[in-house]
Formats: sequence, C-alpha cells, structure tokens
Amino acid sequence: MITEYNSTFYSEPIIVENLDGEVSVNVLDNLNRESIYSWYNLNTKNTESDYINKWILWGLMQPSINKILVLGWGGWAYIKYIEDHFIYAEITAVDIDPTMIKIAKEQMQIKTDKLVTWDVVQFTDKLAKKWEKFDLILFDIYGSTGEIPLHIIKEKLFKNLKKLLYPSGIFSINYANFFLRSHDLIDQERKTKYIAFHKELVNIYWDEFISFLSPDPEGGNVSVSYNLDKSYTMDDIKKEYFKKVEFEDIEADENLIKDIKLDDKRRFLR
Ligand SMILES: C[S@@+](CC[C@H](N)C(=O)[O-])C[C@H]1O[C@@H](n2cnc3c(N)ncnc32)[C@H](O)[C@@H]1O
Repeated sequence: MITEYNSTFYSEPIIVENLDGEVSVNVLDNLNRESIYSWYNLNTKNTESDYINKWILWGLMQPSINKILVLGWGGWAYIKYIEDHFIYAEITAVDIDPTMIKIAKEQMQIKTDKLVTWDVVQFTDKLAKKWEKFDLILFDIYGSTGEIPLHIIKEKLFKNLKKLLYPSGIFSINYANFFLRSHDLIDQERKTKYIAFHKELVNIYWDEFISFLSPDPEGGNVSVSYNLDKSYTMDDIKKEYFKKVEFEDIEADENLIKDIKLDDKRRFLR
C-alpha cells in the first residue's frame, strides 16, 4: 500500500510504500532527488539501503552500544534495526519534522519513546549542558534542499557532540550525495563544502577516523566515523562485525558488509 504524508518540513509529500512489511520512505528535495530514502523489511529485520548499512556497520564497531543518539530519524530504518537486533540499547532521537512520528507509529512499529521534535542545534546544546553521554552518535540531518543545512554545520554543534560522547564513543556522519566524480556544478560545490566540514571535524576530534564509500562508480555516498581508537582495514572491520554478531547472538547479515569499500588511503576527503 502507498500512503502520502503531508510534511511540515518538506514541500513535497513523503511517500511511504508498505508491501506486507517491506517499507520504503521517500521524499523529493527541490532538485528532484530523493532526500529521505529509507528501506526496511519488518519481517526479515534487514535493510538493503546502502548508506544505512554503512551507518549500522559503524554502530557495530562500537564495543558497547548501550546509549545511542540519532540525529535525524528520517525513515526509521536505522532505529528499527537497532530495536530489532540490540534490544537493550537505549535510543534517544531528534528530528525537526513531526510527520515522521506518525510514520513511525503507523508504518514502522517503532517502540523507542525518547523522540524529540526539535532543531538539532538547540537539542544537542541542552543535552550537553545536562552532561548526557552516549556510546554512539549518528548524524543524518538533511534539509529540503538535499543539503546539510549551513546554519547547523558550526563548530559549536560539533564541540557539543564531542562533549556528548563517552571517551570511547563513536561519532558517525552521513555525507549523502557526495558525487565525487560528477561534473555537475552543484555536486562540485557540495564536495567542497563536505571537505571543509570534514577538516573541521578532524580538528575537533583529532583522533582516528575512517570513511566508507558506496560501491557506486560516481562515489555517491560516504559515511565517516570519528573518534576511533585505531585505524581499521576492511578485514578488521569484518572480523569485528562477526565477533559482535556472535557475541550478541544475532544472525550475521551479509547485506551489511556487501560491496562496502573502505577509504583506507583517505583520499576522498582530502
Ligand atoms: C535524510 S533524512 C534522515 C534519513 C534517515 N537516516 C533514515 O534512516 O531514513 C534527514 C532528516 O533531517 C531532518 N532535519 C532537517 N533539518 C533538521 C534540523 N534543523 N533539526 C533536526 N532535524 C532536521 C529532516 O526532517 C529529515 O528527517
């Protein structure tokens, strides 16, 4: 069944397609590109959405994932995955668009109740003042222009995010639509901007970071994690992943590691 939701944030309707528990959530940005693209199968408890897989994988690199902060809940695939596979993890999530809460309840069977409808900058400021701490912070904030909103990408936000992490905590950010080899002018502008954000993050975190690339020959999507305690090879990542799923007693999901490339030379964000 296809249901349209009128968003208070996006000018286009949010389209939810639910085929007996196989749910996808889409909205077009004002460049006619998919701005939220989320896919989750409530029966098999898996997502095949490439950028969400990369995020999930980073979550699984974290040795203890008790407290997770999700910035931008969008189509819920990540949160649903954690709810299904890591039942003891405590999730706090923020997004500016209340329409998504309706989708969570009507389509995604979301159980997490710490859902805050607010601007990410104000919300994280409040959390930092309360000295809250998390093992994992996932950042996926995109505006209706299909861009990370400029007013958000400020040193203050990133410094607050660092304050919100336990010393071993991981901060992971999705640089969606990072079309590395595209000649489109808009993509070139985005690329320049993301490289600048990345440099700022490296200055703040200083520690190890790593990036995953999509298999897309255009280099379409990058997920970067900061504050790691060491460098990883793809073999290390697979080993950590299988150790984790064995320890948590969950079935290994080959989708998560399928086709993922590691930017071990760090050339994509230089
Ligand atoms: C690309 S979507 C997130 C998709 C999500 N990762 C998923 O699994 O589907 C980006 C989200 O950022 C939210 N957003 C945009 N600006 C925001 C702001 N200033 N504060 C909080 N959330 C914001 C949008 O409402 C949208 O849900």
